[in-house]
Amino acid sequence: MSQIWQERFIAGSDSGNDSNKISVINEKGNIESSTISSVIAPAPTSKAVDLGRDKRKGTDKVLHVYIESDALPSNKKSSYYYVGEYAKTKKDVVQPHYYDKAGGSESQQKSGNEIHAVTTLTALALKAWEKGLDKATVDLSVGIPIREYKDTEGELLEKQYKGKHLVRSVDGIYAGEEVILNIENVFVYVEGVTSYMGITINMKDGDLEVTSEAEKIGEEFGVADLGAGTLDAAVYNEYGLDSEKSDNEHIGTNKYIDEIIKEISNAEIFEDVRNEIPDTMDKTPYRTREEFIEKVIKPVVDKMISDKEGEYQPKFKVEWLFSEDTETVTKIILKHMKAYSEEALGYIKKFRAENRIKNMVLVGGGLLFAYYYFKQEKHFIMPANLEQSAYFTSRAYAIKNYLEHLED
Ligand SMILES: Nc1ncnc2c1ncn2[C@@H]1O[C@H](COP(=O)(O)OP(=O)(O)OP(=O)(O)O)[C@@H](O)[C@H]1O
Ligand SMILES: [Mg+2]
Repeated sequence: MSQIWQERFIAGSDSGNDSNKISVINEKGNIESSTISSVIAPAPTSKAVDLGRDKRKGTDKVLHVYIESDALPSNKKSSYYYVGEYAKTKKDVVQPHYYDKAGGSESQQKSGNEIHAVTTLTALALKAWEKGLDKATVDLSVGIPIREYKDTEGELLEKQYKGKHLVRSVDGIYAGEEVILNIENVFVYVEGVTSYMGITINMKDGDLEVTSEAEKIGEEFGVADLGAGTLDAAVYNEYGLDSEKSDNEHIGTNKYIDEIIKEISNAEIFEDVRNEIPDTMDKTPYRTREEFIEKVIKPVVDKMISDKEGEYQPKFKVEWLFSEDTETVTKIILKHMKAYSEEALGYIKKFRAENRIKNMVLVGGGLLFAYYYFKQEKHFIMPANLEQSAYFTSRAYAIKNYLEHLED
């Protein structure tokens, strides 16, 4: 295996409206992926008073950083930030703007985007600290929407990221650590064009391998990416992405997750809890969608996808102060998951028929979210390594990035 991993991060970032997903090829030649919510907030120069909080594993979510970088907006070249989930409950939080239409969201320009820069640099810094590095050379690949690519050909983005960036951790398990990220190469891909590689190619122990899905789908196929805010449907033919036929719709999990949390928060079984909480406070067991997904949905979905017999019956559990419930909340959750899967499948099936697609692949976090219902569908192709399906785009970018080196 070549030496390029030793001190070089080959990284792909897929920054959605909801989260920034980063995949890095590690020194063993395997892909490691992680997520940071697309949220930042201005932060003070020192950490909150430490009342002897132990450095638990969970505190890698405590992201409070100082960044010195030309990738930041002109008046903020050196700034303190709260990043990701940890920023959500802070003052003056900045999130990608949403517009109400059908509960969907519209992405902002990626070039010059502060949230994208901060979450990407923080994710790379975390990878470096995890590996005990204070310096890392990085080749970064990112995607931008085709419309933006037509305007700039990615040049702005390349200029924004190329060069050295300093990231220091102010709080959390890496408090006091610092890293210089030297981004030597930036590869900008058009969203969707490269993504299929995340399905057809895998990297294992330094070797690229064609996946079993690749053999199933052939040269002409469709891919539906089920996201938090949007559902992207792409058509590929022998020449690659057919951008005319490819389309997207504001169908996403966010809306359904919000409905689930609302219904659970108002459920009769939790009346005693609600009565005890002062009216000036939010009466809900979860502060954010991610908290709900992490605590309630993911553990059950994990069991479901590792159950090869397919007989596992999901039982979700909600704990709220002194109270907990399984039966009622499971009913509520399954009802909304079903509604989401029906809305998504309705769109996908119509798309498939209109474009006469034989092989249709389903990917994205939404596939996992409502997997209980999607797994009952017989005529779609789903990734063999399901747990990676939310990362297929960032994995594709990392793999393409790696291939750029082979081409040199
Ligand atoms: N392992 C999992 N189990 C259950 N749900 C998951 C899992 N992974 C991701 N999800 C959920 O799937 C949804 C879609 O996630 P995804 O990461 O694909 O969205 P996104 O790319 O940020 O959104 P968009 O593409 O619309 O910008 C989210 O609500 C996320 O919480
Ligand atoms: Mg996405």
